[in-house]
Amino acid sequence: MRDQNLKQFPAHFLWGASTSAYQVEGANLSDGKGPSCQDVKELPEGTAPLDICADHYHRYEEDIKLMAEMGFKVYRFSIAWTRILPEGTGKVNQKGIDHYHKVIDTCLKYGIEPLVTMFHFDMPDALDQRGSWSNPDSVEWFVEFARVLFENYGDKVKYWLTINEQNMLTLVGPLIGTLRIPEGTDNVLKETYQQNHHMLVAQAKAMALCHEICPQSKIGPAPNISLVYPASCKPEDVLAAQEYNAIRNWLYLDMAVFGRYNNLVWRYLEENDATPTFAPGDEEALKNAHPDFIGFNYYSTATVQHSDITDELDPGADQQTARGEAGYYRGYQNPNLTKTEFGWEIDPLGFRANMREIYSRYHLPLIVTENGLGAYDKLEDGKIHDNYRIAYLRAHIEQLKLAISDGVDMMGYCPWSAIDLVSTHEGIRKRYGFIYVDTTDEEVGTLNRYKKDSFYWYKKVIATNGEDL
Ligand code: BG6
Repeated sequence: MRDQNLKQFPAHFLWGASTSAYQVEGANLSDGKGPSCQDVKELPEGTAPLDICADHYHRYEEDIKLMAEMGFKVYRFSIAWTRILPEGTGKVNQKGIDHYHKVIDTCLKYGIEPLVTMFHFDMPDALDQRGSWSNPDSVEWFVEFARVLFENYGDKVKYWLTINEQNMLTLVGPLIGTLRIPEGTDNVLKETYQQNHHMLVAQAKAMALCHEICPQSKIGPAPNISLVYPASCKPEDVLAAQEYNAIRNWLYLDMAVFGRYNNLVWRYLEENDATPTFAPGDEEALKNAHPDFIGFNYYSTATVQHSDITDELDPGADQQTARGEAGYYRGYQNPNLTKTEFGWEIDPLGFRANMREIYSRYHLPLIVTENGLGAYDKLEDGKIHDNYRIAYLRAHIEQLKLAISDGVDMMGYCPWSAIDLVSTHEGIRKRYGFIYVDTTDEEVGTLNRYKKDSFYWYKKVIATNGEDL
């Protein structure tokens, strides 16, 4: 490829970073908060409990001040459903409402736009007890929650995200401690996709409601998009990549943007007796969502090859490890990529390919809502030399700039994570933050904050609007 004339980052590009409530806040049963599925799950062995995490619930002011010092223009965080509605529906917990007012006001005080995720892996336990997303009422439960959020914060929050990584909830839900399939379910795949359908309708209704209640706000979905490569140029592998791209990625964006099921996914569901039932009005609701932008999380691409129906495939996987599904696709390790210490492939060029592909399919502004490197950081003499994280982020931001030069409309970049927090299933030893938190999986430490080398580096990146990487 020729050298490109690089465009600059837009003047109001939203530089920032992300967290999620159950992973960063702690205080998981304080001030009237009800338990979520995360609070009642069995923790993976050797990982920190969720009662303290980074103690962001109590230290948000100090943390947001540090984000302001880095120059953040945006802070993406989630609101814990069970702080607002401890039982998931019904009685509102005023202390929860007040808490997020304070978080939002602190952001605004420093000129930081809050980018609020409505739902990040933390289904209220009370709703799980009522059948979780299998219950057709789950659509209205979410809409009720959405209404409380929009009515309380709608005049302060300009940017909303609906459901974090709905595709991961559907594909690897049990691994991240969410998506309960009722016991005794015969056809688990069908039930999973019925739950998925309810979430899709809930999301669509929440987007429409946002436009109605706070017309000045913008709202979009936040799936985890990993462009899928074929393992070779064999036509069979290309077909397999199309299957997995549809199942993993396009189902979620086709539905959010166009309000229709991806045809390959629908065929896959038919073949497996797993098509969801539509309730009256669903079709219309799905068509009326009209997101304003697309948020997406990107950690790496995925690679697959053809799979025969007789294949025996290892089902073990996490968000970034391509699984296989006999007869459709089979996960393949890309020999061209290196991996993080935690086994996730690193593919900055794939990031550019991802952005190009999403934009060419949907033509909506994009914001990166997660991207980052989980690593074992070491605190030595009050310093953390995370040059590996800087290298990872630099390589990705370079590709972001190239994507902008390709004509992709990029609104912002929010890597994971603003501050160290507890990983979905690998504890706080798997760190992602610009800010180090002194605590371990084994014992709660001082919880003091330390600025990593990446903190100073990102500050410079933001100050130069991405020119000095
Ligand atoms: C995303 C999630 O899948 O990846 C985050 O939205 C998560 O909640 C992040 O923490 C990193 O994954 P992990 O498994 O390393 O925590």
